[in-house]
Parts: sequence; C-alpha cells; structure tokens
Amino acid sequence: MLVTSALPYANGPIHIGHLVEYIQTDIWVRFQKLRGHVCHYVCADDAHGTPIMLRAQAEGIAPEALVDRIGREHRADFSAFAVAFDNYHTTHSDENRYYANLIYTRLRAAGHISRRVIRQAYDPVKQMFLPDRFIRGECPRCGAADQYGDSCEACGATYAPTDLRNPVSVLSGVAPEERDSEHYFFQLRDFEPMLRQWIADGSLQPEVRNKLDEWFDAGLQDWDISRDAPYFGFEIPDAPGKYFYVWLDAPIGYLASFRQLCDREGFDFDEFCGPDASAEMYHFIGKDIVYFHALFWPAMLHGADFRTPTAIFAHGFLTVNGQKMSKSRGTFITARTYLDHLDPEHLRYYFAAKLGAAVEDIDLNLDDFVNRVNADVVGKYVNIASRCAAFVDRQFQGRLGPHVEVPELVEDFRIAGEDVALAFEAREYSRALRIVMALADRANQYIDERKPWLIARDPQRADELLAVVTTGLNLFRLLTLYLKPVLPLTAARVEQFLRIAPLTWEARDRLLLAHQVARFEPLLTRVDPKRVEAMVSASRESTDTAAAPAQPQAPVATTQPDAAAIGLETLDRIDLRVAQVVAADYVDGADKLLRLRVDLGGETRTVFAGIRAAYEPAALVGRMVIVVANLKPRKMRFGLSEGMVLAAGGDDGGIWLLAPDSGARPGMRVR
Ligand code: 2FM
Ligand code: ZN
Repeated sequence: MLVTSALPYANGPIHIGHLVEYIQTDIWVRFQKLRGHVCHYVCADDAHGTPIMLRAQAEGIAPEALVDRIGREHRADFSAFAVAFDNYHTTHSDENRYYANLIYTRLRAAGHISRRVIRQAYDPVKQMFLPDRFIRGECPRCGAADQYGDSCEACGATYAPTDLRNPVSVLSGVAPEERDSEHYFFQLRDFEPMLRQWIADGSLQPEVRNKLDEWFDAGLQDWDISRDAPYFGFEIPDAPGKYFYVWLDAPIGYLASFRQLCDREGFDFDEFCGPDASAEMYHFIGKDIVYFHALFWPAMLHGADFRTPTAIFAHGFLTVNGQKMSKSRGTFITARTYLDHLDPEHLRYYFAAKLGAAVEDIDLNLDDFVNRVNADVVGKYVNIASRCAAFVDRQFQGRLGPHVEVPELVEDFRIAGEDVALAFEAREYSRALRIVMALADRANQYIDERKPWLIARDPQRADELLAVVTTGLNLFRLLTLYLKPVLPLTAARVEQFLRIAPLTWEARDRLLLAHQVARFEPLLTRVDPKRVEAMVSASRESTDTAAAPAQPQAPVATTQPDAAAIGLETLDRIDLRVAQVVAADYVDGADKLLRLRVDLGGETRTVFAGIRAAYEPAALVGRMVIVVANLKPRKMRFGLSEGMVLAAGGDDGGIWLLAPDSGARPGMRVR
C-alpha cells in the first residue's frame, strides 16, 4: 500500500496541530509494516502559492531558497518525532512538474478543461491579482469592518471579494482595481457519476460521506486551476504567464514523491498508481481539506488515467486545554519548542490515547497529558520491566529461565494481540491502548501477587523467582510489540535490552526463554510538569520576539496576520464608543458575569461583562464606560453579548472599568 499525509506548506514551522496527523499516519504505517505488509509512506513540502512567494520577497530571498530552508526544518522535526517517511520530497520538483503537466494535458485532451475571462481584484501598486485572503473591507451584508475577501466573520456571509465595500489590498493598503483575466477551469461536474460511484464503492467515513452529499446537492462547480503571474508555481503548458494554482499540483505531489522513491528503490510505480494498480492507496488528511481530496483529486486522477484512492481518512483539529491553539496563551507550540522541553514519544502516546477513527477534534489537556503519560507509560508499562529486570541481572547474570510460570497468562496476552491489531487497523488507537493498558494492569497484578522481592530472600526458591521474572519479562515483551507503532524509540531500546531482533507481529507466537539479556537501563522518563510549564512560557516568548521580526528591510508590507505591531488603519477598525450603563443585573448561573444594558447614544445593547467580582450592579447604573462597538456578537449560554466593556485588570484579579472624563456623551467615538 501507498500511504500519504497532507503536505505541509513550506512557509512556516511544523506545530503540534500538524503533528496529530503525522503521528496518526505514522502509527498506522508502522503497524502495517509490523504486520508484514509492503507499505510505502510518502510526503513532501507544499512549496507553491502566493503566501510563499510573498514571504520569500519579504525575506529578500528566492522562493527556492525559502522552500529549501523550511524543507530542511520540516524534515528534522519529523525525524525527531519518529515520523518515518519512506520518502519526503517537495512539490517544486521535476517529478511534480512532470505529473502536473501530464495530468493537465490528459484532462485537456479529454475535454475537461475550459477557459473563460473572469473579473478579479488587482493591486495596482504590487502589480498583481489579489487572492481573496489578501483583500479586506466591509461586509456587503452586515457592514462589519475589516472582513476577508471571501467571508464575514461577524455574520457568516460568504461572497466574492468584488462585493466587499471599501476594499483595500492587505499588501499595499490601496483600493484594488478590477481587471479581467483569462482563467482555466477543471470541469468537475463531468465527473459527478464517476465520483458517486467511487463514493459508493469506497470506504469513506460517514461524516465525510454526508459532507459529500451536501456538495452534490449544492451542485458541483467548475474549479479555477490557474493563477496569473507573478506566482510561484509551474507555468501551465501552452499558456505563458499562467500558473497552476497551488492546490492543483499539491496532491500530485503525492505521486511525485512516490515516483522519486520508485526511481531510487526500483519499485513499480504503476502497481501503486497506474489505472490497473493492484496496491491500495490511502490519504490521511485534516477535515478542512476534504473537498480537495474527495472531489477534485479522485476526479483528476480518473480523468487522467490514474487509479483513484482506496480511502481518505480525515481527522479533526487539535485544541489545547479546550481552546484553539493561541500564541498569547503559549499554546501555539511548535515541534521545535516541544522538543526543547519534552520527549517526543510522550506526545505520540497522548495523541494515540485520544485518537479514534471519527472526524473529531481532539484536545491536548496539559495536566491530563502529564498524568496520563506518567500513569500509563511509566507507571504501568515500564514498571513491569523495572520490577523484574533487577532480579534477572543480580541473581541470574542476565539469563532468563527455561520456562514461564503461568503459560495461560502469556497465552492470554498473545491472543489479546488480535484485538489490538483490529483496533490499530481501524485507526481506533485509543481502543488499542486501552486494551494494552488493561493487559499491563494484569501483568502488574501478577507481580504484586507473586512478590518476587519476597521470594528473592529465600535462596531455596531461586527457580521459582526465575520463573516469575521470566514470565514478567515475556509479558513485557508482548506489550512492547503492541506499543511499538506508538512508541518506536522505546521499543528499540527494549529490543536492545532484551537482545532480540526487531519485534514483528509474527514474533508474538514465540516465547523468550533461556535467553541472555543486557543490563537494564531506564527506558523512558516521567513527564515533569515544570518542563511543560517551561514549554508553554517559551511558546509565549518565542512568538513575542518572532512576531515583530526585522521587517524594515522587507521589500513588501508584512503579510503576517499576527505581527505584534499594528498600523493606524488597524487601530481605526476598532470602533470604541462612550456608552452609559442604563441597567445592570446579576446573571443566574454565572459567578463572574454581570448583564449590562448600555446606551450608545440612541442604540441600546446588551453586553455581558466579567466584572461581578468588583462591582455591585446597582452602583453601575448611570456610569459612563467605554465599549468596543464592532466586536462580533457572541452567543453565550445566557444570551447574546453585543460588544465588550473595557476594563483594566491586574494579574492579581483586580478589575477597574475605564471611563471618559466628565462631559463625554454616550455614542462619542473614542480615538
Ligand atoms: O492545507 C494544507 O496545509 C495543504 N498544504 C495540504 C496539501 S495536501 C495535498 F493535497 F498536497
Ligand atoms: Zn457580515
């Protein structure tokens, strides 16, 4: 089988959100290999597109140089997390250009490509067409300021960038013009019957299937696959100045990376990717890119005479402590920062303990992470070895006994391997680990009951002691095999300690008897909560310092959405108003909140404010406050909050409402 993970963009570091997918895929691939399957795992950097081009410009380097550098960083991060690709390439490669051209020309020859002129926003200063995300303006529906060119965060409307009111280019700050340009389209609707068949035959997750049904109901749209120069990508054959949109050649990068592997190792590319491929092909992806992988990609493959995917496995997003990863909270943690503080296998274990086959978000709760890893991996699993190894070492010169004491127990562990395998196969890793930890509990129970430390006091009972610890280490060996897809580095240390060949699934039918083992060394350490704290504070610092990098010599305005310094235009977008509190109440069931009615000079709004600790509602009525008037309304459990009241606050929990000097009237703008 050929297995892929989504290709990370070559303009930023790998972070723990990405790692969910790479760890999920790597575990599956390692499991397949342990079972004896031929399985190739490939990936690449997603190198093309406008953001990468602009970032390289901002750094004053060629995009190729940027992509090279980031590619090296990505590889180092993956390898530190034991994500073991069989090949890692880049989409800016000869192989990818070859397959992108081939697929495109085949689709064109078969009549699936059309051309038409479209009207688009153009930045006259930067002299380029603007992707939707690079235009901001007022929402055509609700009027909210500073919305993206494709959708409004305030009211949820979606629209064309040309519909925005008072639009500006994020790159130059000037109003974009509208210009015509000819674009190339892939006629997705030609493939509707084929896609419906593929979906019916395939094994898609139910959530994905539902999503596809919605898209079919809405009608399949032609897909714009071209972009005008300047663009970092591949020029379209016979279309000077036109480039393939990054999303066209990104999935083709799967084939390109595999092709490079085939050329290096002599594998047969067609057996995996040709129209009559006998192998299977699986793509692990995030839920946000299902459209590309479950519609465009199979259609392109089929239309260009390649095989279609066997299945697509989508996963959800990662939250940290129940919230979106955030730079200010220090939970936007890069792979590198994690590695500076913690053991990669701890994260592999925790993610696996959370992952199932459904398209569900998973949460990394940092306290739970510490407890879970320490309790399971160290407290249960590693503990079995530490409790037995010392006796083997000291009393038996490292030699295991000729038989185990309770063959039935070892046999139970062997049989349980079937359930573990079914769970891994079905990507139900959390179930697999529950089975393994229940076995670990049984092994510890056995040792508790047999009390080798007591037996060891009586020289007459040496044989019995040897049988007990030989049993313990055989159980430990089986658990190591079951955990090996998740903890490959620890498993390798155990193989060294036991002096055995790399464990495979088939090896579980054998016992380790009358065998010399090495001295026992610590296998895996506990997670130290202090290091978790240090990692979080380093994530906070590194964004503070990295957020305002040397932009001065940058030839273009920054496109970093999270730059620490904001310009006047940004400040101007925050609509601050003087308001007068006309009513204030406690909120049932909320111990921090007060419900305020505030008058903004004619308009009255409800705002929930977390100020109950410092203010009596009655004392607030009549007071002037400052309100953020254009904050997107937030639905709370208690009602809709239509703004925010500003207050100063210290870390000690004090709260001080801001107020204008006397004389200011409700509705006045604050600048
Ligand atoms: O969403 C992303 O991060 C894309 N770079 C994923 C591409 S996956 C594949 F299609 F190449
Ligand atoms: Zn809106």
